[in-house]
Amino acid sequence: MEGSSGRARVVVLVSGTGTLLQALLDAAKDLAAPYRIAGVVSDRAEAGGLERARAAGVPTAVVAPGDFPDRAAWDAGVAKAVGVFRPRLIVLAGFMRLLGAAYLAAFGDCTINTHPALLPSFPGAHGVRDALAHGVTVTGASVILVDEGTDTGPIVAQRAVEVLEGDDEASLHERIKVVERELLVEVVTRMTAHGWQVRDRRVRLG
Ligand code: GRF
Repeated sequence: MEGSSGRARVVVLVSGTGTLLQALLDAAKDLAAPYRIAGVVSDRAEAGGLERARAAGVPTAVVAPGDFPDRAAWDAGVAKAVGVFRPRLIVLAGFMRLLGAAYLAAFGDCTINTHPALLPSFPGAHGVRDALAHGVTVTGASVILVDEGTDTGPIVAQRAVEVLEGDDEASLHERIKVVERELLVEVVTRMTAHGWQVRDRRVRLG
């Protein structure tokens, strides 16, 4: 769905510091950008990403699991909070929770997630640590469509990052995040400008 500006409305879900969100906000400042960030939703009131959204004048919502009686109610709460912003595309940018049936029924076909490893290798919350522990020499960033699994959805785009001698989890993650931010902005730009199609797990942009 589009706002009065004609730009596609994008909602970003964050749990953490929100540097990926910041990259999307910065790129959206370009008047030629095909999208704008219509809202930011977090599961944590203290997430740094919320501060970044406020600084950019973007409305925010907090959907904390502790405020809901159970998992299903929380999930429906996330769908409701996202729906308020009438998004064309939803981006999980460092959002550290799995979304369930109610959310996926509402927005499963237009939600992407970014992950700091080359999926299907090293899914889950510790993709960087697990890749290092395995001893890979190349890892990277993946943007995928969200489904009911943990990082199992169709792959939209990937980019490789070399593991360097002496890398630890923090140094490798920082280098991956540089690439991840670029990749995410490119993908969101292309998806909102030209749309996308999914066939047999293959995602075609434009
Ligand atoms: C990213 O690497 C994301 O893929 C991972 O957490 C990081 C979020 O970084 N799940 P930030 O909060 O956007 O800085």
